[in-house]
Amino acid sequence: MNFCNCYKGKKVLITGHTGFKGSWLAIWLKYLGADVYGYALPPNSEQDNFVSCNLKDEINHFEGDVRDGEKLKEYFKQIQPEFAFHLAAQPLVLYSYQNPVSTFETNLMGTVNFFEAVRQTSSVKVAINVTSDKCYDNKEWVWGYRENDPMGGKDPYSASKGCSELITASYINSFFKNDDSCLVASARAGNVIGGGDWAMDRILPDYFRSVKDNKKLLLRNPYSTRPWQHVLEPLSGYLHLGSTLLLKGRSFIGGWNFGPIDTNNYSVKDLIDKILLKDNKGGYIIPDQIEKLHEAVLLKLDVSKAVNLLNWEPVLNFDETVSFTVSGYQDDLYHTDNILDQRIKQIKLYTFKAKEKSIIWAT
Ligand SMILES: NC(=O)c1ccc[n+]([C@@H]2O[C@H](COP(=O)([O-])OP(=O)(O)OC[C@H]3O[C@@H](n4cnc5c(N)ncnc54)[C@H](O)[C@@H]3O)[C@@H](O)[C@H]2O)c1
Repeated sequence: MNFCNCYKGKKVLITGHTGFKGSWLAIWLKYLGADVYGYALPPNSEQDNFVSCNLKDEINHFEGDVRDGEKLKEYFKQIQPEFAFHLAAQPLVLYSYQNPVSTFETNLMGTVNFFEAVRQTSSVKVAINVTSDKCYDNKEWVWGYRENDPMGGKDPYSASKGCSELITASYINSFFKNDDSCLVASARAGNVIGGGDWAMDRILPDYFRSVKDNKKLLLRNPYSTRPWQHVLEPLSGYLHLGSTLLLKGRSFIGGWNFGPIDTNNYSVKDLIDKILLKDNKGGYIIPDQIEKLHEAVLLKLDVSKAVNLLNWEPVLNFDETVSFTVSGYQDDLYHTDNILDQRIKQIKLYTFKAKEKSIIWAT
């Protein structure tokens, strides 16, 4: 009985369901028996998880822009969901340097519009805003960021995620703090990897595109460490947070970090070297001059709050994280007929491993 059976037969609305994390969340929720509704822009390419898993026919798919507050509100009113997860965002650092205005519009006003829709739809019992580890004021120190550290962000993307957190806190304080009928939280996760992500300017999509094209990848930031985690790890956190809010109430509102345990912070180069050990098809080149644009070098999340208060913890070690990821991309590249089945197999295997470790949401 995963997540205390909270999602079975319930209407769940996801913004950003055509994206990488949103599409995996939609698959997992459908597998749990939820009635899944999605609001997002159309998928970017035929390779995207949403398309390759044929989710258009599996869930209720609606195309809309989160900057259009009236349309989003109308959709919430029409669907009357019980749970709402906000994942629609412009999620790329590099793109945010090139397009700061649209990044801020989507990530700030999209969040405001999401909470306005939640606030005006009385059916919503739980609403979770998905932000990022980059929401914190990054001091490049060696220890992990805690939920009560200050928000910040030097590049436009990171700043937009810091702002999205401040918006969430403001809506909680102004509208939801004393209102047990709707419980609001935000979830901060680090660099997420897994099959089905084909976004531009992200290390693993770039790497597997180079494998496909039989080329070597130029590593932009080879020595940057990131809290790599398979996409199912933060999603298990979001789902567990949602069910806990529903069952246990107000003491779980606010911000939550979901990341690997400290030792899982490996560099970009470590990650690719590990992938090469499992699937020796690609290769890389380290450039003489490393990228100049500011991108955080050290970034760690402290997940003690989620571990101690939610009884959540990561399931996969670094080796398993890489195995799940390589196998997911192999599904994308070589099993194009039944990718949805492969995704569900991974969810089952992940749940099995969580149960073996007696992680509470899986027991
Ligand atoms: N992937 C990661 O490593 C990672 C890490 C930390 C945080 N996050 C956060 O998780 C969330 C999901 O990220 P992802 O990796 O799935 O990104 P993605 O680019 O794969 O998906 C983004 C989704 O948002 C939708 N979207 C974008 N702009 C929109 C708009 N104006 N109106 C409506 N929909 C819009 C897209 O259509 C897509 O469905 C984002 O908030 C992102 O910042 C991702």
